[in-house]
Amino acid sequence: MRYASVQYSILYSEFIDSSKTFYPSYGYPLDYEWKSTTATNGWTQGFFPGVLWNIVEYNATRQFLQHATDVTMPTAPFANNTGTHDVGFVIMSGFGNAYRLLKFPEYLDVIVTAAHSLATRYSSIVRCIRSWNSPTGFLVIIDNMMNLELLFEASNQTKNQTLYDIAWQHANRTMYEHFRSDNSTYHVVKYNETDGSVIQKYTAQGYADWSTWARGQSWAVHGFTIAYRYTKYEPFLDKAIGAANYVLTHLPSSTDLITYWDYDAPHNSTLAYQPRDTSAAAIFASALVELSQYAPTSDLKNQFLTNAKAIVDQLSTPTYMIYGNKDYKLPALLTNGTMGPYPKSPYDVSLAYGDYYLTQAVVRLAKL
Ligand code: GLY
Repeated sequence: MRYASVQYSILYSEFIDSSKTFYPSYGYPLDYEWKSTTATNGWTQGFFPGVLWNIVEYNATRQFLQHATDVTMPTAPFANNTGTHDVGFVIMSGFGNAYRLLKFPEYLDVIVTAAHSLATRYSSIVRCIRSWNSPTGFLVIIDNMMNLELLFEASNQTKNQTLYDIAWQHANRTMYEHFRSDNSTYHVVKYNETDGSVIQKYTAQGYADWSTWARGQSWAVHGFTIAYRYTKYEPFLDKAIGAANYVLTHLPSSTDLITYWDYDAPHNSTLAYQPRDTSAAAIFASALVELSQYAPTSDLKNQFLTNAKAIVDQLSTPTYMIYGNKDYKLPALLTNGTMGPYPKSPYDVSLAYGDYYLTQAVVRLAKL
């Protein structure tokens, strides 16, 4: 977290120099500069404020409180965006953390506005929120489970039952349609929006339609853990545990806990390089810390916590970090993230969400 303070102070200076338009998205470790987005573009801009809030939660200082606030505020207009399900990622990583820590009512207003924007994407026929806009069908991706936190939290704060029901329905249908019998996940389910039937199950960012994209599986663990946090509905907990056990039994080895980018990518073959995805590992570790608190037995709780700590420890070594590599210049924490699909999209890069969920995992472990 000390290193995070150093790296994210550099990024904060760039943010100020850019007149508050610079939001790091992904970057190559040998570069000095991240590829960036703006406060109201894409899906990754909430993670920069999110890391700053994690730093504040770990060790609050007046300086980082100011940094976190400054970087969060410009993302507020995104709460009105009804064109994407990612409004959940963006608003909860910034304003969600800010409200949880500071309880300012104006932050809750942004969260509630965003929740109503997300709710416009719900179909009572499909019983899901639309993830991606497409003329060919109603597309739902497993990542969308993460956006439910926005609905559950807004419902919790305002006692709006409709927002809760939408989130519950989405999680419930996802539980039936996105999972295989071994608790691995499909990335995308395409529904018929006129009758709610399933048209196709496939991948957009994984290795193959039948494979398990590592980050998608981590979103599933994290998303069902959140759904259980708010609903206490046991099948959601069972799904989170089942998805977590899939990960734990498909890691490279019992001592090598950083997943390849897809659990089915042929990483044992000498024919082709397959990159890791540190973001998937970080998201999973953070989820596992929370899930451990809901585990029905102390054995499972200990197993989850031990693995979460071991993953964080492995991620925090120069093998996966910018730290300790003299040729690496990027002001970031992790590298070896893979956007997916490999090799078409950037790989062996730093990802804003990798840094966010790693620091979230550290904060969660520190609070136990
Ligand atoms: N939600 C997009 C991704 O995980 O790449």
